[in-house]
Amino acid sequence: MLDQHTIDVIKSTVPVLEVHGLAITKTFYSNLFKDNPSLLNIFNHTNQEQGRQQNALANTVYAAAKHIDNLEPIVPVVVQIAHKHRSLGILPEHYPIVGQYLLAAIKEVLGDAATDEILDAWGKAYGVIADIFIQVEEDLYKATESNGGWRSFKSFKISRKVVESDLVTSFYLTPVDGSNLPTYKPGQYVSVRVSSPESEYLLNRQYTLSQPSNSNEFRISVKRENGSVVNGAVSNFLHDAAEGTLIEVSAPAGVFTYEPTTAPVLFISGGIGVTPLNTMLQSIKNKENVTFIQCARNEKVLAFREAIAKKMDELNPPKGFNKLLSSFKKDKNPNHKVLFSDQNVYVNAEVLRSLVFADTQVYICGPTPFMEAAVNELRELNIPNSQIHYEFFGPALQLGTK
Ligand SMILES: Cc1cc2nc3c(=O)[nH]c(=O)nc-3n(C[C@H](O)[C@H](O)[C@H](O)COP(=O)(O)OP(=O)(O)OC[C@H]3O[C@@H](n4cnc5c(N)ncnc54)[C@H](O)[C@@H]3O)c2cc1C
Ligand code: HEM
Repeated sequence: MLDQHTIDVIKSTVPVLEVHGLAITKTFYSNLFKDNPSLLNIFNHTNQEQGRQQNALANTVYAAAKHIDNLEPIVPVVVQIAHKHRSLGILPEHYPIVGQYLLAAIKEVLGDAATDEILDAWGKAYGVIADIFIQVEEDLYKATESNGGWRSFKSFKISRKVVESDLVTSFYLTPVDGSNLPTYKPGQYVSVRVSSPESEYLLNRQYTLSQPSNSNEFRISVKRENGSVVNGAVSNFLHDAAEGTLIEVSAPAGVFTYEPTTAPVLFISGGIGVTPLNTMLQSIKNKENVTFIQCARNEKVLAFREAIAKKMDELNPPKGFNKLLSSFKKDKNPNHKVLFSDQNVYVNAEVLRSLVFADTQVYICGPTPFMEAAVNELRELNIPNSQIHYEFFGPALQLGTK
């Protein structure tokens, strides 16, 4: 453990480093990749260009430094990051190099203000934090292997493609070695690694497993990203790939998972954020108090509407007038709502009031502003944070909620 003097130095310098946090992590990544270009084979280049990864790293290092004398409160954050690290095959030998470039970036940005004493204390603190990550990740690697999973990546074939909407296609993935697949929790994801002629380096992305666990195949469901400047590299690669194409896939990972409960459950999805929530829904057996609010731009881009409607009817059969309606109209199950933003219909307190109860467990996934709006509305209805679960489809951020 760290001596008191080192802890004092760290705590007194956290505010200074926080101010320069982003400058430090940007300098860090830029120098790291310049000198070690092979590391670009494991990082998501878009998250770098958009500054999201730099932000996530800065926030975590300073949160850890703030709690350096008692790291207990940041354990859940460490575990979430460790899942992503494990899915990308991060190893203990990567840590010293990251530490070396982080300290050098602190020195470069702060100049003379970064005295030897300060750098020495931060070097020691980084060592403590890195050791925790390495330990948690090793535990995850072992747990993955004992569940029939693998370290790093395994070769999979795209055995089948199924179009789910104008933008979303599902990919059924089978392991080339014919082995049985590990079980996973609904909501977990895999990292996918592809080699594209468009990129000098391997491309890595995460995709939610979009159907409940089975031993033969994984399924991922991917939205084609058509940007105004460039199109999304991996989603377009996958959409354009023929059946039979080989890709590299990690074992399942992730902490955004459905926990069975007797309390009411509400799922709120925005766009492609439907993937983890639909898997969670499909994994539920015998539960009446489930509600699904599915939001999308319009009908054309809406995926999994029928699958959700069918499951909702199984769990919560429509009764009386709703039963009559459901026989010839879509989504008449009162617990399944479909809202289209093109029609100016959004999730708001009015929509939520009749669907959420004091003890409802809420699962949300969608674009960041969508999740912020949904969380704000839930807070208006006094739903405590402990009952609100959400996941970012990118490096985790601080939600800009009230
Ligand atoms: C845990 C998790 C689960 C996920 N699950 C799913 C899922 O189930 N389904 C799914 O579809 N996605 C999912 N994602 C998102 C997925 O990982 C990818 O981020 C997504 O597919 C986009 O990747 P891409 O390579 O196609 O786009 P990228 O190339 O990463 O680009 C993303 C966007 O940024 C824009 N962009 C890129 N570079 C530039 C630039 N230089 N200038 C301007 N704009 C730029 C692109 O136009 C595009 O709109 C998940 C992510 C996480 C973290
Ligand atoms: C103590 C040291 C480290 C900290 C605090 C840290 C922190 C983080 C954080 C906060 C994220 C984002 C997680 C999310 O998705 O929400 C992340 C992702 C990642 N980390 Fe680390 N990390 C550390 C060490 C390392 C090392 C040693 C490597 C290997 C070189 C590494 C490689 C990655 C990669 C490849 C990602 C995914 C990036 C992306 O998708 O853009 N990290 N890390």
